[in-house]
Amino acid sequence: MKITVVGTGYVGLVTGVTLAEIGHYVNCVDIDNNKIDMLKRGLSPIYEKDMDYYLKKNKDRLNFTTDYSVYNDCEILFIGVGTPENEDGSANLSYVKRVCEDIVKYGSKDLIVVIKSTVPIGTNDEIDSYFKSTGLRSKIYVVSNPEFLSQGTAINDVFNSKRIIIGSNDDYAIQKMKKLYEPFIESGIPFLVMDRKSSEMVKYASNSFLATKISFINEISNLCEVLGADVNSVALGMGYDDRIGNKFLKPGIGYGGSCFPKDTKALVDLANKNNYNLEIVSSTISVNEKQKRKCFDILKGLINDLNNKDIAILGVTFKPGTDDLRDSPSLKNIDLLLDESANVRVYDPVGLENLKKMYGDTIKYFNSISETIKNCEAVLIMTEWDEIKYYNYSCYKKLMSNPIVIDGRNCYNKKEMKDNGIDYYCIGG
Ligand code: UGA
Repeated sequence: MKITVVGTGYVGLVTGVTLAEIGHYVNCVDIDNNKIDMLKRGLSPIYEKDMDYYLKKNKDRLNFTTDYSVYNDCEILFIGVGTPENEDGSANLSYVKRVCEDIVKYGSKDLIVVIKSTVPIGTNDEIDSYFKSTGLRSKIYVVSNPEFLSQGTAINDVFNSKRIIIGSNDDYAIQKMKKLYEPFIESGIPFLVMDRKSSEMVKYASNSFLATKISFINEISNLCEVLGADVNSVALGMGYDDRIGNKFLKPGIGYGGSCFPKDTKALVDLANKNNYNLEIVSSTISVNEKQKRKCFDILKGLINDLNNKDIAILGVTFKPGTDDLRDSPSLKNIDLLLDESANVRVYDPVGLENLKKMYGDTIKYFNSISETIKNCEAVLIMTEWDEIKYYNYSCYKKLMSNPIVIDGRNCYNKKEMKDNGIDYYCIGG
């Protein structure tokens, strides 16, 4: 089939590349000339495992352009542009709306418009009403089809999707979507059809549930600390019950990224606007905000006066496998340290370029863990990169005079660290 995908960020680009991989011809459109230029040269504008490989492999089925006239050159058009957070927590739909306006301006043929971007419940219906209100002669079928990919494993997540969700009540559109995804359906991925509002809600409810699981285990970990239990053992024991499951029970310094923080807030905002108090998700958000400053609070309890003290931050991205810093808990810790006039020294294998754009010369950047921690008063571990997990921990002792390691991601064995003379603190035990 001939497809157009609008937006070449995580959602759009991964959608385009994976559809090309299963045999479709895909126009990838973006307003950003730089991104399109890079993609034309075979370079990925996002840091994502296997992206370069799939871009190269499918180059004959992929067309990158800033030209909206391709809106006429397809049967199905995906909208995969961003829906960032507004100041009040609601989702900003201006980019989605802009694409819809351009469809009206440039499109002249019947078209299935698929909303991949995460949009508040009711948005697909509003978009449908908008198209109808423009008096277009051609027919536009609006279909909701949320994505469930995680950054760092996005391409693999699409090929091994747990489900494909389609929100539509139009038979023609449903059959077209079935045809589009045929190779995935034949490989055994469930294809679920429902109304558009429910489809939109599956996305928000799934992300809010996963975020809640994380805040839940973080609260349990804080109680474990008070009571002298070990949260890692507790999570292991809980996870064997397959009604609970062992995933997303890893305690830490809270969730970050471009999805959980934004989607939980957007759902609470939507509930508030409809006079419903969404208590559990609201608590998930407030527990997460507290958890983000956990390592800093431990540090303050150990060294009250941080003025002019050298403090190392290991890992800044919101999780390993990505260069994304959006809502990363590390940023909160850097800000708190700077407020106390500490000297902040940072290491991350891929996130430093993005960090420099935010902090300039207010902090120091290093390309190795050893350089970063040299003579520091304390180390805060914020991301569980392999480089950090498998770092020779005896170096903390060698390179720091009085080694304090506050591990927000439980990268090391507590006993081994203590036995090696390191003043070691981890989450929940
Ligand atoms: C998340 C969801 O996992 C995807 O299913 C969803 O499609 C995506 O959002 C989206 O809406 O686009 P992502 O934000 O890439 O994916 O990252 P996750 O792997 O879910 O991690 C989110 C945060 O939770 C990270 O900061 C991570 O460190 C934290 N986390 C995760 C924990 O603290 N504990 C855990 O057990 C798991």
